[in-house]
Amino acid sequence: MNTNAKLYETVSAMMAPGKGILAADESDSTAGKRLDMVHLPNTPENRQDFREYLFTAPGIEEYLSGVIMYDSSMRTATDDGIPFPDVLTAKGILPGIKVDLGTKDLDGFPGEVVTQGLDGLEERFNEYADLGARFAKWRAVVTIDDGIPTDACLEMNAVMLARYAQIAQRCGIVPMVEPEVIFAGDHTIETAELVTTRALQILFQTLMKYRVDLGGLILKSSMVLAGDMCREQSSPEEIANATLRTFHMSVPHEVGGIVFLSGGQSPRRSTENLNAIAKLGRQPWPITYSYSRAIEEPFLMAWGGKPENVGEAMRVLAHACKMNSLASQGLYNGAEDTILK
Ligand code: 13P
Repeated sequence: MNTNAKLYETVSAMMAPGKGILAADESDSTAGKRLDMVHLPNTPENRQDFREYLFTAPGIEEYLSGVIMYDSSMRTATDDGIPFPDVLTAKGILPGIKVDLGTKDLDGFPGEVVTQGLDGLEERFNEYADLGARFAKWRAVVTIDDGIPTDACLEMNAVMLARYAQIAQRCGIVPMVEPEVIFAGDHTIETAELVTTRALQILFQTLMKYRVDLGGLILKSSMVLAGDMCREQSSPEEIANATLRTFHMSVPHEVGGIVFLSGGQSPRRSTENLNAIAKLGRQPWPITYSYSRAIEEPFLMAWGGKPENVGEAMRVLAHACKMNSLASQGLYNGAEDTILK
């Protein structure tokens, strides 16, 4: 199979109708913040338990096409000795890997950051492919504040994303490109729409300039919504319309698919907003979810760090995935859902 045919096959499996992607790629230190929510210390054993419960929860394969993992998860096995990527592959879930190495301040641009991680990336991709990874994620951060984001910051991050995407595709791995417009702030939905449109236009111009195969790539985007501190919060319908307007202004139709991050929205809002987007009908790209917090939080609340709650927490996890799978098809009925808050 030539490389591009493999990329397209992976993209269509990732974007299978009614499925989504769990972003369980928190770093070991961010996993510690999750464990802190259930009053457990951040030890390798507790991280292994947390991740093993997520990956082995019965039934998630009905609703998940992929799971994004962190480097240490790719190298960890279940108590029975089965490596996590193999556990997922056996369930028909594609393993993915976060490959960026976080952000650094952008010199000369206070408040703005650029994502790191290009050095040695090809070698890392080849190793991750051997461990079973089929797709990857690279996250750039776009912050809205007085005078920012600047085009310089958007352009610098777009070049990094394009270079990452080129290398991923050459290694037969589907790149997920994620320019996250940060939800925290007091900006209006109109500002979020302008900024997201600009960020995506610059990103796709750059991806095309560097000859990235857009059909073998997935966009991971924030929804277009007012900042969490903005006095005027928008309805799911307003968010859906603004988000799709933005995509139609900036995302070429060849792009393999679009997935959403939850970005700090509550689990219920993330699901309701996805549902409102899907209700607007068929788009040029398949669209689904790739949440971390909005799926993991209900699980963590049900688990509470107690062994006797693990079975129920796994059911809650599968429920959260199912509700978002329904939402990705515009079929979520919030009135009947007593679990997502
Ligand atoms: P959230 O859904 O918690 O925003 O995480 C998704 C993600 O992958 C962020 O990079």
